[in-house]
Amino acid sequence: MQIQDKVVWLTGASMGIGEALARALDAAGAKLILSARSEDKLQTLLESLQHQKRHRIVPLDLADGESISNAVANTPLPEGLDILINNGGISQRGLAADTPVSVQRQVMEVNYFGTITLSQALLPALLASKGMIVNIASVAGKVGGQSMSGYSASKHALIGYMDCLRAEEACKGLKVLNVCPGFVQTNISVNALTAEGTQYGRVAKSIADGISPQQCAQDILSAIQKDKFEVVIGKGLSAWAPSIKRWFPVFFTRLSARKNIR
Ligand SMILES: NC(=O)c1ccc[n+]([C@@H]2O[C@H](COP(=O)([O-])OP(=O)(O)OC[C@H]3O[C@@H](n4cnc5c(N)ncnc54)[C@H](OP(=O)(O)O)[C@@H]3O)[C@@H](O)[C@H]2O)c1
Repeated sequence: MQIQDKVVWLTGASMGIGEALARALDAAGAKLILSARSEDKLQTLLESLQHQKRHRIVPLDLADGESISNAVANTPLPEGLDILINNGGISQRGLAADTPVSVQRQVMEVNYFGTITLSQALLPALLASKGMIVNIASVAGKVGGQSMSGYSASKHALIGYMDCLRAEEACKGLKVLNVCPGFVQTNISVNALTAEGTQYGRVAKSIADGISPQQCAQDILSAIQKDKFEVVIGKGLSAWAPSIKRWFPVFFTRLSARKNIR
């Protein structure tokens, strides 16, 4: 799908991959609806964009169903909606054995239930335009690792839901793209929930060694333009992990259980 003049609703636009996506989409000529909780950061981003008059900000909280319904109800779409990019999300750090179900639920509320609530509310508009839903899932949505059970589960669930939605609605022209980045240099680990439900507060080494958010955004735009249905983005082990698991499952299982991989 071409980007020029397309109406694109982007969640998680206030920082990280979302902010980089907003800049890349702005440069490519999209008309943006920018969402996240932090209205001040969205406003600052909007004011820094090249074609700011073409864009709007719509704050919403993915953990709050009412906030999502209000955002959709109060956002007229006179030119329709061509692309929804479900990018907003949180991560989690902590062993499954130590992480209470309440923290697991918090991650699911944002990454899974919040995302499918927004997608369902915008589905009629996307069907009308034969549009595309782009889900920023994760390599963790394809393989399990250590210290991220809630995060990995939420991304597996998201990919499963979106594969079903694609199967059901492809006949009406809906496109669904699942994006699985490996490590990207953002504040994802800083903002991650610990087993206690507090912020992890540190940039993990794996994240610091990842690709830049700008590179990730360019690869996502390229996947949209090529009408891909799934793409793995990244470098090193994190990008190879889904293929290693598929073709060498015993090796992958041993590798993921090594104590020094946490
Ligand atoms: N960085 C990586 O290595 C990596 C790898 C694979 C996949 N991903 C995925 O990429 C996406 C973006 O992550 P990032 O790396 O850019 O992390 P980030 O820098 O922490 O950004 C997360 C974004 O999600 C928004 N968000 C968080 N909770 C929200 C909520 N309850 N309601 C609405 N928006 C919310 C944040 O905005 P507010 O705080 O303003 O709400 C922010 O804009 C996520 O889905 C993440 O799982 C990241």
